[in-house]
Amino acid sequence: MKIAIDGPAGAGKSTVARAVARRLDLTYVDTGAMYRAAALACIRAGVSVDDGAAIAALIGSLDIDLATASDGRPVVLLEGEDVTDAIRSPEVTRYASPLSAHSVVRRALVSQQKAMARHRDVVMEGRDIGTVVLPDADVKVFLTASASVRAARRARDLAEAGHAADVAAVQAGIEERDRRDSSRADSPLRRADDAVEIVSDELTVDEVVDRVVEMALAKTEGTRQSTSRRMPTERAA
Ligand code: DC
Repeated sequence: MKIAIDGPAGAGKSTVARAVARRLDLTYVDTGAMYRAAALACIRAGVSVDDGAAIAALIGSLDIDLATASDGRPVVLLEGEDVTDAIRSPEVTRYASPLSAHSVVRRALVSQQKAMARHRDVVMEGRDIGTVVLPDADVKVFLTASASVRAARRARDLAEAGHAADVAAVQAGIEERDRRDSSRADSPLRRADDAVEIVSDELTVDEVVDRVVEMALAKTEGTRQSTSRRMPTERAA
């Protein structure tokens, strides 16, 4: 089972994807965390986000890993260091969006993401999962919400993480990132043609999770039925 969840910043992808992974016992893969870890590495190395050559030189040798802590929490490792909290800073958030527009960065991370899903059942979230990373995913969801709702949620998350957050500023930042992520030349944020769009403004997290789980179970059931329908013919042949 491969589930792709794409959508703009603050739509609730991480919360939903984690809950779906728990409910269906799938591996959760946060691809945004990988772009963020790459951003942190570039910032630490003093590389300008416009310096394609320096970025290319750095990205090839970066060791970014997603792991699970003993308490089940997803952990992001950069060269073996736990950077789970560090990659959530506003500075990393600002840097990750223009960094992710570099094709050299996308190539490196997309191939790692495809490898992660090759022999595993996953819920993968990002911007290009249904379109580029897992075009054959069993379930594709495009999760979105209005910019004001997304900003209010993000501001609350930031405040909980100890970062001062003004909702209007957060909304401006989100809109700027949406514009950038949707207009880049290489794999822009867009809904895959066969993705189901869920607008979460009026939905609780549980309602969204239920819908995604139902889609996955319907898919499994459909596969099981078509396999059992084929059986007699196969035996006869
Ligand atoms: O989902 P996020 O906010 O953690 O993602 C951080 C940045 O990474 C975001 O600006 C867009 C980029 N990104 C991407 O280009 N492709 C993905 N599959 C995931 C994230």
